[in-house]
Amino acid sequence: MRKEVEISSIFGETLEKLKGQGVILIAGDPPNLMTIGWGTIGFIWGKLIFTVLVRPSRFTYSRMESSGEFTVNLLPDAFSHQLSLCGSKSGRDVDKIAECGFTLERGIHVTTPFIRESSIHFECRIIHKHDLLPETLDKGILKKYYPMGDLHRVFYGEIVGVFK
Ligand SMILES: Cc1cc2nc3c(=O)[nH]c(=O)nc-3n(C[C@H](O)[C@H](O)[C@H](O)COP(=O)(O)O)c2cc1C
Repeated sequence: MRKEVEISSIFGETLEKLKGQGVILIAGDPPNLMTIGWGTIGFIWGKLIFTVLVRPSRFTYSRMESSGEFTVNLLPDAFSHQLSLCGSKSGRDVDKIAECGFTLERGIHVTTPFIRESSIHFECRIIHKHDLLPETLDKGILKKYYPMGDLHRVFYGEIVGVFK
């Protein structure tokens, strides 16, 4: 049974996971799983926001567009194989839920599911989005991360629940 927790108690752990093996973003119906390493947590508009960056080439991108919600799932270190699979295979080609052996449960405040095997999950409602602009982005970053274009869309998810 999941319990709602204070963001301050799991902030450090979330940053460590983002910096390390990544975390799993779930969006859409049917849901798609994708590993992400880029994201921020903070306050905007008086709300607690999780921003995630998704390239248009990802299958998850269309799921984010259609669902208006997402969950972010932190997994114990033993799940490195699943994190690498969700970060290298596309939901267009593979049933990642079956391949990972995950059990999905319906979200508590959103309809998007979370991973039962996760240690912590965030539930978010998308309240804003925009595309990175090549003309205003640092030229070094543009060259390093976007030689083929495919600039990320930034999705702002209001955190409506954090559970452990
Ligand atoms: C550690 C790690 C972090 C990643 N972070 C991101 C990210 O923040 N944004 C992104 O668009 N892709 C990221 N990726 C790449 C996607 O996870 C990968 O392209 C995935 O296969 C997309 O799946 P989909 O096509 O089912 O959406 C990351 C991959 C790894 C391994």
